[in-house]
Amino acid sequence: MTQTTEKRFLKALNKEKLDRPPFWLMRQAGRYLPEYRQTRADAGSFLDLCYSPKLAEEVTLQPLRRYDFDAAILFADILLIPDALGQPLAYKEGEGPVLDPVRSAKELSSLSMDKLHEHLAPVYETVNRLSGSIPAHCSLIGFAGAPWTVATYMVEGRGSKDYANIKKWAYSDPDGFQKLMDILVISTSEYLIAQIKAGAEAVQIFDTWAGVLPDNEFQKWVIEPTRQIVSNVREVFPGFPVIGFPKGAAGNLMEFVKKTGVTAVSLDASAPLEWVKTEIQPHVTVQGNLDPIMVVAGGNAMVDRVHQILETFKGGSHIFNLGHGIIPQTPPENVALLAETVKNWKNS
Ligand code: CP3
Repeated sequence: MTQTTEKRFLKALNKEKLDRPPFWLMRQAGRYLPEYRQTRADAGSFLDLCYSPKLAEEVTLQPLRRYDFDAAILFADILLIPDALGQPLAYKEGEGPVLDPVRSAKELSSLSMDKLHEHLAPVYETVNRLSGSIPAHCSLIGFAGAPWTVATYMVEGRGSKDYANIKKWAYSDPDGFQKLMDILVISTSEYLIAQIKAGAEAVQIFDTWAGVLPDNEFQKWVIEPTRQIVSNVREVFPGFPVIGFPKGAAGNLMEFVKKTGVTAVSLDASAPLEWVKTEIQPHVTVQGNLDPIMVVAGGNAMVDRVHQILETFKGGSHIFNLGHGIIPQTPPENVALLAETVKNWKNS
């Protein structure tokens, strides 16, 4: 514990007072970096990259060589869970992930948790390697997709515009859909616990498509599964720091924070800063929330907004981040300016 308390990122999760917030960026390893594109090409496919501990370690470390981030996030993908459950997955150029969809309770018999850990063992090895190779001041973040968001890909078979297939199933056959969510809650809990055993110091649960649900369904398919995962993880690791990212939760954010028990909540770029400061930040550490396109724009517009975010959240616990993942067309020099801006700011 003496070692971990030296880390700025863990201090912020622990609500300790700091002279500046820690910072890292969602998708900080990725296509905006030429060295990532090189390693990705060497790996062959994106899945080969995810399942090669040496290469996944390498791409995790790449952004840390350029920028002084306070945290490293394991390189993997939220869709490794369906892959490990036996649902064939491919990443198609220009199209994103493609899966053979499951759309009813009886189709769930094609999924199995038997080989989960065997299949995901390379990911645990990546975490293990990283715990020995990240810079001493950096914390290591493990992650998984939230059941709702992972289920959207499993049911729609790809990214979707209207989520009609998954919503139709969840609304018309909630008991059948619950069976899929139960499989995801159990496998995701076990996956995160194994990452923590391998050396992850905090975990983030990505619920990218939380915002497409009406409030009663948000309770059932976003809050409740997340609450169960947090509770399962903490049964093994009491008090363990968990960051929730219910993207687009809007007015449901408070309910999410109160009921799930997350340590921190990651805000999307639309979350109103003053409202978050008075309503949310007194309860949890907040993470975010610069619009990723601001980092494409760069310059004074970006610097001004970064200062506004830092100033608004300076009275409580804050981890600086984007409101969503960094996008491939981001100029790396804008990330350098962003990093300098956060590092040079002082809480006074
Ligand atoms: O943040 C990091 O640096 C860690 C790695 C990470 C990736 N995906 C690598 C990745 C993390 C945390 C994710 C999470 C993820 N994956 C989410 C939730 C967060 C979010 O961004 O909304 C989702 C919805 C996915 C599913 C996924 N993976 C999609 C829709 C795509 C295709 C779209 C795209 O950006 O290309 C992926 C592929 C993917 N995952 C890439 C990376 C670096 C790009 C693949 C490539 O290199 O060709």
